[in-house]
Amino acid sequence: MKAPAPAAARPPARPAPAPPLAAASILSADWSRLGAALEILDPASDWVHCDVMDNHFVPNLTFGPQLVEAVSKLSPAFRDVHLMIEHPERLVAAFRAAGADRITVHLEACPDPRAVLDLVRATGASTGLAIRPGTPLAAAEPFLPGLDLLLVMTVEPGFGGQAFMPGMLDKVRAARTWRERRRERLLIEVDGGIDPATAPAAREAGADAFVAGHAVYGQDDPRAALAALRAAIGAA
Ligand code: DX5
Ligand code: ZN
Repeated sequence: MKAPAPAAARPPARPAPAPPLAAASILSADWSRLGAALEILDPASDWVHCDVMDNHFVPNLTFGPQLVEAVSKLSPAFRDVHLMIEHPERLVAAFRAAGADRITVHLEACPDPRAVLDLVRATGASTGLAIRPGTPLAAAEPFLPGLDLLLVMTVEPGFGGQAFMPGMLDKVRAARTWRERRRERLLIEVDGGIDPATAPAAREAGADAFVAGHAVYGQDDPRAALAALRAAIGAA
């Protein structure tokens, strides 16, 4: 793909559908039928979640901006890009040029999170900060004011199909309390082991966006599975 154009040339982020909402993770989709996998999304209510892994920050390797560009061509759904990579600052502009609407970076991968988030903001993308299960909310708090989304990992990042960690719900509750006290607009997203059985407790704890890979694309009827997840979280 072409080298990215200067950040200033880019339009602002597209508005995201309102929460609560499902974010279908294509990690578990059949990439030989990516168009069909994306057709089950309702762009008015769902996000498409793109998991980028580098085999350094996490022990798995997925895809880069070119696949996000393909997703952008195939679907108008809001593109929620989750970067599980070291040195995310090197690729922020390329993912934005590929059509990322939100770019979420891991706190643990950023020696200077503020600088990386400023870089994301400068591209016009919506900003996201993710924390691993072992990272306390307090570590992320200095970067929450003005942030668009906090991603609370509910499994160790790296693979789909793992079991939800209920212990992470306290972190979701604490993030909601922080948001209420500070009167911030911060969205709270949960990612890992989310399905119609686990999502309601996360919703109750304060989560707004629910990433699901296996619970959608690992099912015989992904369209019905996505509808079941929407119903479980009370989405439109
Ligand atoms: C894991 C990824 C998740 C993954 C979730 O590191 O960040 O987005 O796709 O997969 P499930 O929903 O199968 O746990
Ligand atoms: Zn993810």
